[in-house]
Amino acid sequence: MLYRISFCLSLFSLFLYSCKLQNVPPKTSSLLTPVKSIDVPNAAVVTAHPEATKIGFDILKQGGNAIDAAIAVQFALAVCYPVAGNIGGGGFMIYRDKAGNVEALDFREKAPGRAFPDMYLDENGQVIDGLSRKGHLAAGVPGTVDGMVKAFEKYSQLNDWAALVQPAVDLATEGFPITARQAELFTTYMQDFTEANTQENAFTAKETWRKGDLLIQKSLGQTLASIRDKREDGFYKGWVAEAIVAEMDRGNGIISLDDLANYESVWRKPVVGEYRGLRIYSMPPPSSGGLILLQLLKMIEPFPMTDYGFQSTQAVHLMVEAERRAYADRATHLGDPDFYPVPTVALLDEAYIRDRMTSFDPSSASKSEDIAAGDFGESEETTHFSIVDKDRNAVSLTTTINTAYGSKVVVGEAGFFLNNEMDDFSAKPGVPNYFGLVGAEANKIESGKRMLSSMTPTIVEKDGDLKLVVGTPGGSTIITSVFQVMVNIFDFGQTATEAVHNPRFHHQWKPDVLFIEDDCLQVGTQDSLRYMGHELKLRGKIGKVEAILVRDTGSLEAVADSRADDHAMGY
Ligand code: DON
Repeated sequence: MLYRISFCLSLFSLFLYSCKLQNVPPKTSSLLTPVKSIDVPNAAVVTAHPEATKIGFDILKQGGNAIDAAIAVQFALAVCYPVAGNIGGGGFMIYRDKAGNVEALDFREKAPGRAFPDMYLDENGQVIDGLSRKGHLAAGVPGTVDGMVKAFEKYSQLNDWAALVQPAVDLATEGFPITARQAELFTTYMQDFTEANTQENAFTAKETWRKGDLLIQKSLGQTLASIRDKREDGFYKGWVAEAIVAEMDRGNGIISLDDLANYESVWRKPVVGEYRGLRIYSMPPPSSGGLILLQLLKMIEPFPMTDYGFQSTQAVHLMVEAERRAYADRATHLGDPDFYPVPTVALLDEAYIRDRMTSFDPSSASKSEDIAAGDFGESEETTHFSIVDKDRNAVSLTTTINTAYGSKVVVGEAGFFLNNEMDDFSAKPGVPNYFGLVGAEANKIESGKRMLSSMTPTIVEKDGDLKLVVGTPGGSTIITSVFQVMVNIFDFGQTATEAVHNPRFHHQWKPDVLFIEDDCLQVGTQDSLRYMGHELKLRGKIGKVEAILVRDTGSLEAVADSRADDHAMGY
């Protein structure tokens, strides 16, 4: 009898083994090669990572709409792109449905209840270096999971929440091979991971990471399964919430169970404006992105950009002078509208914008110290993805934990990085944050307030139809990157592929420096700009733009930035 049982068992295990060999290859056995530009008739997804793009594409193929794909992509990025993809952070989405209705979703993190204006200052009133950037105290209350649930409840077509989260659960549990760039980043940040964490985590499982190594995140898989089964309650309540608070206790953090239970994302009206007959929809406060983008476009609109030509001295000078003025406004006037009366209408007033440019001199650079914010007498990691479905519903979504791997703190037992978004507040008036941005009263830290952002998810319409879905990471350079891509397409007649891949420049008022990518601007143009008084400085890559352009033929040109692993798919 025993002999028979053991014989049956061996047959059964032989059967299982042959299944494994023949029929059930591991889902993520090889590195997917990024595709940078496609032209497709129906639908497209562009994200920062091939695994996430593929998951979004599969959802579209299964009949999901752009919102369904966006939810699946957001959770997938939390697994395969942990440098910025997240459930421990937040973001912003612009959604335009096929009928042309546009809404903005704000799932930005909030300051914890126990936060207060001077929380990063020492007894002499000086900012304590790094406290708002690394470690537990840097984290705001995450908004991503609530945001995804809100988007699902209002707009999902598949109506199957679990089906949208499950691909991310599988990706975390089964693992996926990391890219060369990811291997390098993990290795670079290893010391930070070790310093910020007392618990073991998936990222410190190896000392050195190599291209193709499998990243398996069992704890994250369990957290995602909890979200799959209980939606927002699977994150903001129960064992995951308790794990976050236990993690806070290990590192003097201040996020409480109440902060988590009370978190709410918000539907907002997008900011809307016109540029050369196009209609632009972008993110309102607490992001500065939409308002500053519209200011920039309006400031250059009276000038013949097309005649000036792509990256000509005249075009760059004009764009930089506009940037100098708009970023001065950002520093003073922008903050969370739930806490501060942001003068949205005044900032976009045509006469005001004209007035801001009266000091523009076409032959010489102004000095940032001479440019103040306007007065109305009244009160480097994030990730973006763009999706268009077969019905032409469109999602433009930027999401982040702020700098690379956020606070570097991984929630013990729950396996995800917490953001360091508190650094986007102004810790002290005039003291620059990580991105060199300064702020004041409007963006001071307050309990329950959202920190000011530069994220600029944007959708453009032409003649009432969808024309462009665009956005990028890049901290303070987000707005100017979106600005340049739009000008490249709409003024310089470039394809979306050229517009995205072309080198970029950036100015943000303070510091008074014109930053350029190393292959940007011809030597003669650089010399002319210096002669006009601009200080030029080389810097690393600016932005990682994901764009989908509806061509005049009606097909979709989907472009993934060539600056990293970004990947486009469509059909
Ligand atoms: O909200 C913001 O503006 C920043 N937290 C974005 C950070 C970012 O883009 C980093 N990426 N490179």
